[in-house]
Amino acid sequence: MKFTIMTLFPDQVKNFLSESIIGRASDKGIIDIECLNIRDFADNEYSKVDDTLYGGGTGMLMECEPVWRCYQKACEKGKPYVIYVSPKGNVLDQKKVIELSKKDHLCIICGHYEGIDSRVLSKTVDEEISIGDYVLTGGEIASVVIVDSVSRMIEGVLPNSDAYTNESHMNGTLEPPQYTKPRVWQGMEVPEVLLNGNQAEIDSYNRTMSLIETMDKRPDMFDKLQISAEDWQKVLAKKKQN
Ligand SMILES: C[S@@+](CC[C@H](N)C(=O)[O-])C[C@H]1O[C@@H](n2cnc3c(N)ncnc32)[C@H](O)[C@@H]1O
Repeated sequence: MKFTIMTLFPDQVKNFLSESIIGRASDKGIIDIECLNIRDFADNEYSKVDDTLYGGGTGMLMECEPVWRCYQKACEKGKPYVIYVSPKGNVLDQKKVIELSKKDHLCIICGHYEGIDSRVLSKTVDEEISIGDYVLTGGEIASVVIVDSVSRMIEGVLPNSDAYTNESHMNGTLEPPQYTKPRVWQGMEVPEVLLNGNQAEIDSYNRTMSLIETMDKRPDMFDKLQISAEDWQKVLAKKKQN
């Protein structure tokens, strides 16, 4: 899968994406990350890419022409699916991440300053995506969030699909609490059932704990679940114990 990131600050993006799991996936050629510096497409000798707003207001807005030229470069080998990261977009969730992971080529446009002239956005963007209801100084962090979350869904990036299928948000629940060595830490013991080697019991325990975790931490998600009578009994019994 290919990602093209259009940004005024390519180093911010490259620094993050060149390390760890995503960096290794890039090195192996499982994903291909291209950063285009919008400033390289400025049409003036000072590489100026922004100007004041019509109608007044503070700050500077990124101009159409450099973004348009940069977009054309991104389209050289075929039209990508184009995302503008913006606080006005739908908020990213795991369902959207999975949907995006099925595209061949994603192009992510990062705004900066006050954002980007609406006219060029209307000619280029397929979808606006936000990473939360707050405002960042630029779209670079949001672009990295999309590349990271989408890449994890691509075969070969993680060691196997178990690494993500049992995780939070994959089936509308949160992951159960997890533990590693040592078995006892500061007097707190790992639950006995996780040590007994009986996989059916472990799975059942984890299912109950996953439901409880969701109920306690994300009641909004819990309300949407369809829970069997058996699961309910186990949740209530466990809650009573604690
Ligand atoms: C300071 S913001 C511009 C905010 C814009 N003037 C507004 O009020 O909607 C600069 C850039 O950061 C990015 N950005 C800011 N908040 C974001 C968010 N929550 N999700 C995704 N991108 C965001 C966008 O690319 C935006 O163009």
